[in-house]
Amino acid sequence: MTHLCEETLVTVVNGQLPGPAIEVTEGDSVAVHVINKSPYNMTIHWHGVKQRLNCWADGVPMITQCPIRPNHSFTYRFNVSRQEITLWWHAHVSCLRGSVHGAFIIRPRHGASSYPFPKPHREVPLVIGEWWQTDLGQIDKSLTNGFFGFNPSSATINGKLGDLNNCSGGLVEEGYVLEVEEGKNYLLRLINAALMSEYYFKIAGHKFTVVAADANYVKPYTTDVIAIAPGETVDALLVADAAPERSYYMVALANQPSITNPPFPVTVTRGTLAAVPQRRRRPLAPEMPDLHDMMPSFYFHGNLTSLRLAHPRGRTVPAHVDERLLVTLSMGSVCRNGGESCARGGSIESIIVATMNNVSFQLPATTKTTTLLAAHYNHSHSSVVVNGTGEQPQQLYTPLPERPPRPFNFTDRAFIPIGPTEAEARLEPTPKATTGRRFLYGAAVEVVFQNTAVMQSDYNPMHLHGHDMFVVAQGHGDFDAARDVPARYNLVDPPVRNTVLVPSLGWAAVRFVADNPGVWYLHCHYEFHVAVGMATVFVTEDGPTVGSALPPPPADLPKCGGGHGSSLDVMENDLL
Ligand code: C2O
Repeated sequence: MTHLCEETLVTVVNGQLPGPAIEVTEGDSVAVHVINKSPYNMTIHWHGVKQRLNCWADGVPMITQCPIRPNHSFTYRFNVSRQEITLWWHAHVSCLRGSVHGAFIIRPRHGASSYPFPKPHREVPLVIGEWWQTDLGQIDKSLTNGFFGFNPSSATINGKLGDLNNCSGGLVEEGYVLEVEEGKNYLLRLINAALMSEYYFKIAGHKFTVVAADANYVKPYTTDVIAIAPGETVDALLVADAAPERSYYMVALANQPSITNPPFPVTVTRGTLAAVPQRRRRPLAPEMPDLHDMMPSFYFHGNLTSLRLAHPRGRTVPAHVDERLLVTLSMGSVCRNGGESCARGGSIESIIVATMNNVSFQLPATTKTTTLLAAHYNHSHSSVVVNGTGEQPQQLYTPLPERPPRPFNFTDRAFIPIGPTEAEARLEPTPKATTGRRFLYGAAVEVVFQNTAVMQSDYNPMHLHGHDMFVVAQGHGDFDAARDVPARYNLVDPPVRNTVLVPSLGWAAVRFVADNPGVWYLHCHYEFHVAVGMATVFVTEDGPTVGSALPPPPADLPKCGGGHGSSLDVMENDLL
């Protein structure tokens, strides 16, 4: 594809960017044939689809499946039930999801008139993405070697760059145009498919009514700005009630928590909303929040409440908790020479990694022949019963610590600059391990995610596969159970999401019930963080009945390892 005066080779699905929207009806069985004609190993993840008793179709390389090798194919089969409105799908290898993604639209079984809001005149997917002039298949290798200097050339809406991004002498980049009829009601299905950033989205002269997030209905929330982090989806109604003789810019602007020197480039795209195609008057532009202001995001996320929890047939938040974790999300470093001592604080001797409770996630070498899920499944079904409780064998994964190993003043801004300070040098050293946390079937789990200021002030959109989470609280600074529980907790109607945005220099608390047996990836949806280890797995044991146990793998699941020459090389690079 040619944009910004440059031709770039892009990996896409069916010749489209974004890829084709998959449209299903709630209750459907879905089969998607993936034919891998790319030079990379590939998996596709159905982001937010719960995959109940079907972890094998979750699409995470070396965790739930061996990747689909080049020139091979695989058919994903899964059911979509008790979820509706908007999710999405994306590649889960390397950084390829930057261009291998699309909408996953779930229509209500009884038609659009059963939506819990006025039936929209039209429904419009708006995929916010990025245009990269970098080889996405190669970025991972650089990241894991400690080189982070990659930035997209533009933001995109439905693949269009918009006229704010141009190159000298090139064609003006087209922006996305949404044509509307005066007074009609539109359902905008927003998806943040970007690798890097949360976006602020506005349309001049209009307000939105947010009705769903991550395929769960929320109480109608009216706002003029939408904040959407990587991995999240937001459904919002828009009434085309502004003067029809004008047109209106829509802007998606990537926010930036840290002010850096030199500053990060601004990533933005602009499209237009128009009632009648007209060229004479300049469209009205929205006034965007300051890109360093994180408060619009904090309020947007904090103002969402669930529509159906209080409902007699709705789910309820677990009132008591069986397992409680406090997990720091941070940066750290490992020594380039593989040893334990080296110069830290931005030295070339160390490589910056991302961590959860000070461990950087890594897949074990043994998984070259078997995935974590297959190893877990085989173990649970082996005749060797350890203690009769299905205790995991030591070598499968290291327990993720349930607390930060070293408490410190997590959000002290003095840690933000990368530099050779003594305090930070003590905090940086990080082990690498394949971590996991095991839960008995039906356990009620609370996780408090705590961001740190070590070398950054990033927000972290944490995505849990296979489950929705009740996002019960968020706050700035360090979480303090004595002060924040229950004062800041919403146990009545918290939003239900598959991705929780942990605010910059703050924390967020979630509860969920571990009732879906399998090995579920939990990771930051900011690609540069997951690529260097901000991840773990949650392992849920089988329940007592056939209806609560993971069935055997599909017979055609791809095999790992064994005589596919150079693609093994690609595979190893794709893992982390
Ligand atoms: Cu949308 Cu594991 O990802």
